[in-house]
Amino acid sequence: MPTTEIAYKTYFDEFEVKSLVLEPTINYSLFKTEIKDKQAKQLKVFSKLETGLPMFSGTSFGSQVHFQNAYQTPVQRWFPYREGYSTMLVNAFIKELKITGNVFDPFSGSGTTLLASRINNLSSFGIDANPISVLVATVKNEQYNKSDIENILLEIERIKSFAKSNEKYQTLFDLADKVFNQEVLQSMLQFKEHIKEIENEKTRNLFFVGWLSIIEDVSNIKKEGNGIKYKNRKRTPTGYTNINKDVWEKQTFPDNKFDFVKTKLLKHLEKIIFDIESNYGNCEKKPTIFKGSCLNFDKFFLDEIQFTFFSPPYCNCFDYFEIHKVELWLGDFVTNKEEFRLLRNTGFRSNTNSLNNKPIIYKNENLENLILLFNSEKLWNSKIPNVVRGYFDDTYTLLNKLYRQTTQGGYVGIVVGNSAYSGVIIPTDILIAEIAKKIGFKVKSIFVTRHLTTSSQQKQELEFLKNYLRESIVLLKK
Ligand SMILES: C[S@@+](CC[C@H](N)C(=O)[O-])C[C@H]1O[C@@H](n2cnc3c(N)ncnc32)[C@H](O)[C@@H]1O
Repeated sequence: MPTTEIAYKTYFDEFEVKSLVLEPTINYSLFKTEIKDKQAKQLKVFSKLETGLPMFSGTSFGSQVHFQNAYQTPVQRWFPYREGYSTMLVNAFIKELKITGNVFDPFSGSGTTLLASRINNLSSFGIDANPISVLVATVKNEQYNKSDIENILLEIERIKSFAKSNEKYQTLFDLADKVFNQEVLQSMLQFKEHIKEIENEKTRNLFFVGWLSIIEDVSNIKKEGNGIKYKNRKRTPTGYTNINKDVWEKQTFPDNKFDFVKTKLLKHLEKIIFDIESNYGNCEKKPTIFKGSCLNFDKFFLDEIQFTFFSPPYCNCFDYFEIHKVELWLGDFVTNKEEFRLLRNTGFRSNTNSLNNKPIIYKNENLENLILLFNSEKLWNSKIPNVVRGYFDDTYTLLNKLYRQTTQGGYVGIVVGNSAYSGVIIPTDILIAEIAKKIGFKVKSIFVTRHLTTSSQQKQELEFLKNYLRESIVLLKK
């Protein structure tokens, strides 16, 4: 497998980018006798896909492609968007590629690409299917002037003045009684009502984001892996045990639940106002953010794009609507099951809930050869082969549209992780590169930023191929 000498040595101020040193080429025929045929067949597909690609080691980006560090930084800390990356990462690419034109993020999530563009005084566009993401990104990229700050401070004082109400608040969220302690729930609903009364829209949205961002913290659930887990369910060496809900709540929450919720909310709002008062990222540019599917972005704006930087949902069945289910329901973004189902259908086809009987037009021989290796008995859902096909069909549609709207010489950067099903790796990074080439893009580089783990059942089966379980940044040029 070839490596390409790099032109990046002198760029990327904050990062060190090295040419990727690949393992000596493995003799596939020898390999075949030692490991299962299935792995050898996968390796053959991967080698074919990787031939000629400019692979780089981008381990210095490794700490920036996830949210752990980003969540400690100003503005990014306003909402815990676990799937986000850091502004530092986007910043490095903007500088490195000397971007001066429009920037676009088709999966704008919590608004990181837009925030970094703004800091660089660039115009940008974002779109996301999840209304929570749209709200969070909008609030984070808003301009707050002196009178806004005064208004926010006044409203903080108003929140401080509230005492526990005797009213019984209602919610349409049918799991609310399981997900929350009753008194915590009532306090959260009471504060929601107070926030709804705020007249100034900018301030109201800001407070609402503050309120949304403490939901997980004050609830009985946590976001973990691909879904939501109850905090009273504990892993022990012999398996999981459930601590009785009442007992767990008694051990976890203080007696005064109203004060507990109020303190959490105020602490969070104080962090937010601190960042605003510190003038972080304040500039004249304000991004335009749409709510909708990125597959229709050309229906929202027709401006030319110089740089698109994004992280799509990965092809790993992670469901962005499921993970934000509690916030979507409690925040009244959805009010019935049908609305929730329809919202899910607007998602990229990366999970079993977003599959909406849409025809699959894009066919890829390499992908089909991998899907053939799936062991249907080990797949936890029979829709998975079509989820994978749908994923690359959507990717093809998006990249095609991006190609059309990108300026000549413009760039597309994609942060993406590979995934695995029943012992078969879906090498999304190099499959995207193949699709992009077919459309007309040049593949400038693929930076391998870090390696990923998989379920313990698949670990052993994938021992020889584990280097392909990775998170990369694919950089394309028109
Ligand atoms: C990996 S996250 C992006 C995170 C973002 N880069 C950040 O730093 O916050 C992927 C996003 O894709 C969004 N999404 C899923 N399907 C979509 C679609 N069809 N169109 C637009 N956005 C979609 C999800 O709601 C989620 O916010």
